[in-house]
Amino acid sequence: MKPVQRHRAGKRTGTTATATGPGQIRINRFLSMSGITSRRKAEDLVLQGKVEINHIVVRDLATRVDPARDRVFVSGTQALPVKGFLYLVLNKPKDSITTLSDERGRTTVMSMVRSRERVYPVGRLDRNTTGVLILTNDGSFAHRLMHPKFNVPKSYRVSCDKALSRGDLTLLRGGIVLPDGRTAPADVELIPQGRGKEIGITIHEGRNRQVRRMFETLGYDVVKLERVAYGPVTKAGLARGGTRSLTRSEIRSLKEMAGYTEEELLSGR
Ligand code: URA
Repeated sequence: MKPVQRHRAGKRTGTTATATGPGQIRINRFLSMSGITSRRKAEDLVLQGKVEINHIVVRDLATRVDPARDRVFVSGTQALPVKGFLYLVLNKPKDSITTLSDERGRTTVMSMVRSRERVYPVGRLDRNTTGVLILTNDGSFAHRLMHPKFNVPKSYRVSCDKALSRGDLTLLRGGIVLPDGRTAPADVELIPQGRGKEIGITIHEGRNRQVRRMFETLGYDVVKLERVAYGPVTKAGLARGGTRSLTRSEIRSLKEMAGYTEEELLSGR
């Protein structure tokens, strides 16, 4: 996530504000507050020499920043602390894509979001997958939610071209071997009155096109795919294309799932 403003070329290397002072924060914290990335990844950016403060490249992880005075750039793009983090859910309609812009002029989910700050989708949904898509300007939150280590559950309603056999249901539960490895155990149920063609599946990973590929591997075509929940977040009450802010309790619960410590939860970091 990269807020605004290009920067001139030419770099000097050195150290800057490593002294502590009121209002100063560690560079990795500043970058995560800017929505750029997680604190951990921010450290990598510093070590890679991609971060400049007041036109000086810094490589010292102990560097501190005064957000009110220092000008910080990452690979030439200014990092600006966001005023407040936004956490939204969009009920994504069919035929929309989760990239930020599209040179082919297709509808992007960004065109459906009106917010005072730029937000970014957490992960991807295929063009024709509908349902719950979380968007935020909190880069660290997004990064942690998507991290496979935390296994945040995502539930889908799948409509297949034919009824799922008992044997295949068991296979889906146990894990399907895909070219990028076996999928982790999933919760899979037939949806009542769905004539065997409607299936509810909850996965704990987020690989590309994972649900479609699991079914396709077993010889089923997915004719409709809807994400009905991302952790505790559902699309209940949202029209297609509609957005709402996540509630405090949804944000807290997602953060807990993404491994935030009690201290982080209390400090709002
Ligand atoms: N799995 C898929 O196959 N597609 C999605 O959009 C999301 C999960």
